[in-house]
Amino acid sequence: MSEQVKKPVGIMETVLRDAHQSLIATRMPTEVMLPIVDTMDKVGYHAVECWGGATFDASLRFLKEDPWDRLRKLRDGFKNTKLQMLFRGQNILGYRPYADDVVYAFVERSIANGIDIIRIFDCLNDLRNLQAAVDATNKIKKQEGRGSSQVALSYTLGDAYTLEYWADTAKKIEEMGADSICIKDMAGLLVPYKAAELVKTLKENTKLRIQLHRHYRSGVASMTYLKAVEAGVDVIDCAISPFALGTSQPATEVMVETFKGTEYDTGYDQKILAEIADYFTPYREECLKSGLMSTKVLGVNIKTLLYQVPGGMLSNMVSQLKEQNAEDKYREVLEEIPRVRKDCGEPPLVTPSSQIVGTQAIFNVLMGERYKMATGEFKDLLRGNYGQTIKPMNQEVIDKVIPGEPRSTARSAEATGRTEPELESIEAEMKQYKQQEEDVLSYALFPQVAKDYFEYRDAQQTGVDAAAADKANGSYPV
Ligand code: CO
Repeated sequence: MSEQVKKPVGIMETVLRDAHQSLIATRMPTEVMLPIVDTMDKVGYHAVECWGGATFDASLRFLKEDPWDRLRKLRDGFKNTKLQMLFRGQNILGYRPYADDVVYAFVERSIANGIDIIRIFDCLNDLRNLQAAVDATNKIKKQEGRGSSQVALSYTLGDAYTLEYWADTAKKIEEMGADSICIKDMAGLLVPYKAAELVKTLKENTKLRIQLHRHYRSGVASMTYLKAVEAGVDVIDCAISPFALGTSQPATEVMVETFKGTEYDTGYDQKILAEIADYFTPYREECLKSGLMSTKVLGVNIKTLLYQVPGGMLSNMVSQLKEQNAEDKYREVLEEIPRVRKDCGEPPLVTPSSQIVGTQAIFNVLMGERYKMATGEFKDLLRGNYGQTIKPMNQEVIDKVIPGEPRSTARSAEATGRTEPELESIEAEMKQYKQQEEDVLSYALFPQVAKDYFEYRDAQQTGVDAAAADKANGSYPV
C-alpha cells in the first residue's frame, strides 16, 4: 500500500476580524471574543486574524475600547495560535501615507503587543509602498525571533493583469524579503478554474507560502478554495459558520469536512469547531434581532461578479446616491466605474482606491459631464500621490483635472513629502493624553477619533466627564 503524501491545508480563522467587519460593521466587542479564546486556541488554526484598520478604528470610535488592550488580552488567551493583522502598506491602518519612522514604530509595537503575522497590502499593488513595513517586520524578526510579513496582492481583473504580471509580482515580493504571499480577492472575483491557474503559476514562480483570501458574496468562494487547494495553495481564510458566507468568508467547518481523509486534511476536530459555532450562534441571533446584522449582507449576490465591483463599494454607492436622491442613476454609475478605473491606470478596487473611483464615477454621472468636478483624492491619485498604477493614466483626463500640475513617480510617502521622521511632532501634539507608547500611534492614525477616546478614558479614570464639565465656573459632574 502506498503511503499518501500529506499536504495539510492551513486555515486562518477570520471571525475576530474580517468576518465581523463584513457582517456587523466591525462591532464585535472584546468581551464577546474572550470567553471563546481558550477553545479556539485548541483547534490548531494556521492563524487567527484579529486586528486591522477597521477593527482599530471601530474599537476607538464606536466601542470606546483601546485596540491595543484588546490585542494584549487576545495574546494572553491564545497561547498556541499565531495572531494575524491586516496592514495598509505605507498608510499603516489609516488613510494617508506616513513617514517610515511611524511605519517602523507601528510594526514594532504590533509585534510587541502580540501580532505574529502582518499582512500588508497596497491599493495600487505598488510594491514600493510595502517595502518599509516588510523591512520593519524583518528587523524585529531578527531582533526578537518573532514576526512575519505577508505581502498581499490585491487581486483584480483587467487587460494588464495577466498571469505573467502576477508571476512577476510574486517574484518581486520574494525578492523584497517577505515571508509569504496572499492573494487578496476582496471583491470576490476569483472563480474556481482561474484560481487553480493562478495558484499553479505563482507556485511555479516563488517558493513562498501562498494564502488565499476571498469573500463569499458571489457564491463561488468554497469552490474557488477547493480548486486552489488542489493547485497547491497552502492556507485559506475561513470564518466559523455563524459568521461565514454572505459578504464574509467560506465556513471553516465546511472546508475542514471537504478535505477530511484526503492529502489536504486539516486535522482539525469538528467537535471543537462545533463548540465555537455554538458559542457564536446566540450572538449572531442577537445581532440579527438588533439589526446590527442585516439580512442584506447574507446570501448570494452575483452582482459583484457581473460588475467586478467589491460588495462594500456597491453598498457605499447606493447610500451616496440615496443621499443625492439619485437612486435612478445606479446603472449609469455602475457603467461609469470601469471607465473611471481605466482613466486612472486600472488600479485594483480596494481601500482607498475603491472609494476614490466610486465617488468620482458618481460625480461624473450626477454632474452630467465627465470630470467637470473632481474630488481631492482623485486629483491626488492623478498626481501620483498614492504611487504608480500598473497602466498609464488618461492624459486627457489629467489635462482636464490637474492642468499643468507636476506629477510624481515616487512611492507614496515621498510623493506626499513624508521624507522626514514625523513621530516626534505627532507625539508633541498629543502628549497631554499619553498613558502608553501605543497612544501616540493611535493618535497618529486617527487623530480626532483617538482624542475623543482619550478624553473618554480620562473621564472614566477620574470620574470627570470632560465634555460635560463646566470649566468656566469650575463645577464638574462626577
Ligand atoms: Co477581506
